[in-house]
Amino acid sequence: MTVTITIRRPDDWHVHLRDGDMLRLVAPYTARQFARAIVMPNLAPPVTTVEQAASYRDRILAAAGEGFNPLMTCYLIDQVDPDELSRGHAEGVWVAAKLYPAGATTNSARGVTDIANLHAALARMEAIGMPLLVHGEVTDPQVDVFDREAVFIDRVLEGLVRDFPALKIVFEHITTRQAAQFVADASATVAATITPQHLMLNRNALFQGGLRPHVYCLPVVKREEHRLAVRAAAVSGSPKFFLGTDSAPHVVAAKESSCGCAGLFNAPFALEAYAQVFDEEGALDRFEGFASRHGPAFYGLPVNEGTVTLERTAATVPEQIGSGEAAVVPFGAGGFSWRVAS
Ligand code: DOR
Ligand code: ZN
Repeated sequence: MTVTITIRRPDDWHVHLRDGDMLRLVAPYTARQFARAIVMPNLAPPVTTVEQAASYRDRILAAAGEGFNPLMTCYLIDQVDPDELSRGHAEGVWVAAKLYPAGATTNSARGVTDIANLHAALARMEAIGMPLLVHGEVTDPQVDVFDREAVFIDRVLEGLVRDFPALKIVFEHITTRQAAQFVADASATVAATITPQHLMLNRNALFQGGLRPHVYCLPVVKREEHRLAVRAAAVSGSPKFFLGTDSAPHVVAAKESSCGCAGLFNAPFALEAYAQVFDEEGALDRFEGFASRHGPAFYGLPVNEGTVTLERTAATVPEQIGSGEAAVVPFGAGGFSWRVAS
């Protein structure tokens, strides 16, 4: 007998949909699995004004088709105007704002150079109930790349939580034991998203038989002890942890390069990957919370109507999606043990 699980239609609380041809290629994959998604604003140039966000939303709607609701975010810069944040939030354009430390990752050059520059903006967001989404890594070149998330907690995040106790903060794509512990111990205003790759891979995957650009993302995958801690957090049933794929496509040539881009494209089989993890952990009864309930509860949004059913059966993953110079390699080369049935 086939094992199946039916859950409320889920959302992706962290995704990069890009723009132009790439947007048209990848958006349908996210829209196929998720009703809503928090869309990252790190385009070039970044999404810093309400008008840019509204027109980007229109382009996403055109690319994704009926029934998908993109939730837009503001890219925070040193000069952010608190009034622009409130206006976009009041108009229903912006759901949240994203903090990229300058230089931390793809298209973060215009990110924040010093958290002190955000003081007025964060006070405003705290007052209006607009969540802060955080790429939690320091950029100090003295800090080892594998330690940048843990050091960010000490140098930045603890102070943020202390200084803005009512500000909703999502620690995005957590990768370490320290991050999982910090979020679990923090007040109810602090939550975290977790990606499939940080649940499934440790840093050996980067070097398995050679250099593996298609599993390189930021924050970089960590040691096994960290993967296990992040897995335990995801399946714990705690409402502080929810689904955020961080699907971040780059064309093959940009990945397979002497300086390959960070990010992997997991949107096509994201639910399959998460379901496999929850099954392996004997936690399928907590999958719906992680995928469909904890995120809306944190953001103060309703749970979706409708359901999705998955079955325990082999899913094969194509080597590439798209063709020619536009092709991208999806995450999950070996396939998954679950498949979306309906
Ligand atoms: O791996 C990543 N890719 N991490 C990020 O933070 C950004 C993303 C991207 O936009 O490519
Ligand atoms: Zn991201």
